[in-house]
Amino acid sequence: MASEKGKHIVDSLNWRCAAKIFDSGKKVSQEDLHTILESGRLAPSSSGIEPWKFIVVTNPEVRQKLRVASYDQPKVTDASHIVIIARRTDSENISPDVIARTAKAQGKSEEDLDGLKKMVDQTVSMKSDGDVRDGWIAAQTYIPLGIMVQTAALLKIDTCPMEGFDPSKVNVILGLSEKNLSATTMLAIGYRGDDPYADLPKTRQSYDEVVEFV
Ligand SMILES: Cc1cc2nc3c(=O)[nH]c(=O)nc-3n(C[C@H](O)[C@H](O)[C@H](O)COP(=O)(O)O)c2cc1C
Repeated sequence: MASEKGKHIVDSLNWRCAAKIFDSGKKVSQEDLHTILESGRLAPSSSGIEPWKFIVVTNPEVRQKLRVASYDQPKVTDASHIVIIARRTDSENISPDVIARTAKAQGKSEEDLDGLKKMVDQTVSMKSDGDVRDGWIAAQTYIPLGIMVQTAALLKIDTCPMEGFDPSKVNVILGLSEKNLSATTMLAIGYRGDDPYADLPKTRQSYDEVVEFV
């Protein structure tokens, strides 16, 4: 049923697992790391707001502190790379940034983009309640997270997406609040080690449970 390309994708996604144990001696090449991060950068977002930053932490001492803030999950120090995905907290600057970015990319004046500005302003302000707005902004950051997981799998590189950490501690360790950012997720990237979980059968709802044609 699947084409050759489709089979490669589905096989890769069946091979993928959220790796619990990483081989600390195996490094992902800079080229592959760049491809993974680039695929996250190209992720779609609601109204094109891209309210995110990906922070690749390489300093071993900082990684150790992050591990403590992540309930001592070994992957934070043992994976080849750890990326912190953060959401923007300065929602008031989101719309002006979208307009400036679009004007630059499309060679237009900001006045030309008045319709887009109204649409983005309205979308952001519709989320009037602070918590709802923060939740909506945070939700966008899961899109690059998912895409990076998939890109890595297609490159036969392991990942573990992570929410198991205390964001307030991570924000302090990385000085994120001062930069109007707050950590939402992490992505450990590397190669699986001797991981007993990796060989367990995949637990998923069936295709027919998940997919409905109307
Ligand atoms: C947003 C998100 C957060 C997660 N947080 C953690 C985590 O902190 N630690 C962990 O070991 N796994 C974490 N996982 C992995 C899930 O437990 C895993 O994807 C799920 O059980 C399905 O297993 P599989 O990915 O191996 O197929 C997370 C997954 C997602 C998508």
